[in-house]
Amino acid sequence: MNMFVNTSPLDPMETASIDQLRQHQLERLRWSLNHAYHNVPLYKQRFDSLGVHPDDLKSLDDLARFPFTGKNDLRDNYPYGMFAVPMHDVVRLHASSGTTGKPTVVGYTQNDINTWANVVARSIRAAGGRRGDKVQISYGYGLFTGGLGAHYGAERLGCTVIPMSGGQTEKQVQLIRDFQPDIIMVTPSYMLNIADEIERQGIDPQKLALRLGIFGAEPWTAELRRAVEERMGITALDIYGLSEIMGPGVAMECAETKDGPTVWEDHFYPEIIDPVTGAVLPDGEYGELVFTSLSKEALPMIRYRTRDLTRLLPGTARPMRRIDKITGRSDDMLIIRGVNVFPTQIEEQVLKIKQLSENYEIHLYRNGNLDSMDVHVELKHDLQGLDGDQQKLIGNELSKQIKTYIGISARVLIQPSHSLKRSEGKACHVFDKRNQG
Ligand code: DLL
Repeated sequence: MNMFVNTSPLDPMETASIDQLRQHQLERLRWSLNHAYHNVPLYKQRFDSLGVHPDDLKSLDDLARFPFTGKNDLRDNYPYGMFAVPMHDVVRLHASSGTTGKPTVVGYTQNDINTWANVVARSIRAAGGRRGDKVQISYGYGLFTGGLGAHYGAERLGCTVIPMSGGQTEKQVQLIRDFQPDIIMVTPSYMLNIADEIERQGIDPQKLALRLGIFGAEPWTAELRRAVEERMGITALDIYGLSEIMGPGVAMECAETKDGPTVWEDHFYPEIIDPVTGAVLPDGEYGELVFTSLSKEALPMIRYRTRDLTRLLPGTARPMRRIDKITGRSDDMLIIRGVNVFPTQIEEQVLKIKQLSENYEIHLYRNGNLDSMDVHVELKHDLQGLDGDQQKLIGNELSKQIKTYIGISARVLIQPSHSLKRSEGKACHVFDKRNQG
């Protein structure tokens, strides 16, 4: 029997025909544009200055006439300036810290929380989760949307939630061993850390009940999926989302096809644009992902530029479109001696070398006018005994691959196993020291 057979029925919108879906989107989009225009001064002013009005939306293509929104708009209107409902209707706040400046604050009405729980429940079900499954939630609880977003969704599906949150890795493993969760929801990089601890404690992953990992909140490669699935003996699926649009559960990879997250298009309308010109690109072309919320009350988002780079693909497991794996965010792109590099490209190469662990760090320096890149990697723990020459060969192989596939020279430093810093949430792979001193 297929272990991913679902017992609960799908939402009707999940199987609606494309025509029904587009009609639904058009109606919801009209509502959302009106809601934003009439309740958020920033939208009114932007629409007016471009000479567009919500009534101008006659077809979905007309959305391209409306202005974009960005993270800076939320920052400039910190904390509540873009809310479209009175504060007494806002039942929850979350915030994302970002690397610089003020956090961006997002708010939810009770209906928003409901919608969110529904899309996350739908996501867990699409991943093969079902009522009665035990779900360990190891995304951080708190202002980050990961923990509570996953929590409400898992409860909504009828799962037994283990609200572990991030951190305390030994305890994570104790719960996995004692409570026997079937599903874990966690960032892929923290899963690696937990897998190390499972290994350290001498536990055989095959003896655990875990069968499914729902991983997201950061970019991760197909190579990492293979590595985690192999180490843990589980299926690993990709969940995508961002606070500004909702949190986790904007898109979810379906178990039956495992071919990139399906966008829950009945609530979040996706577009791909050219990041430089802002022009809408046809499905299949790579660019920046833009979302318009279709049902959100507290914080409607019109054409929000996510900075995530991907492409839209036709539906497979569901009629709704998919996104390809996110290559990275435009802000994460490194320019090294004129070559554009995403950390995920380095990850791909590191994981092709079977002697290396999945952990890596990229350190960038500037010598005079020249950039240089060091890639720090570790041997797998059972290969600690390799001598200097053998290690050198492995290092040379990786730097040759980076040169061949990415086009840049990198110095590879092989470190003892377990010496690189582990993540407890979103991983930090890049240490850019080019502007220091
Ligand atoms: O990371 C929400 C989330 C929590 C998603 C748990 C999935 C699981 P933020 O902190 O606002 O929200 O960060 C959003 O994280 O724009 C992407 O750059 C990145 N991201 C999220 N999911 C994925 C993914 C949450 N599956 C930002 N693949 C997004 C690649 C992802 N990047």
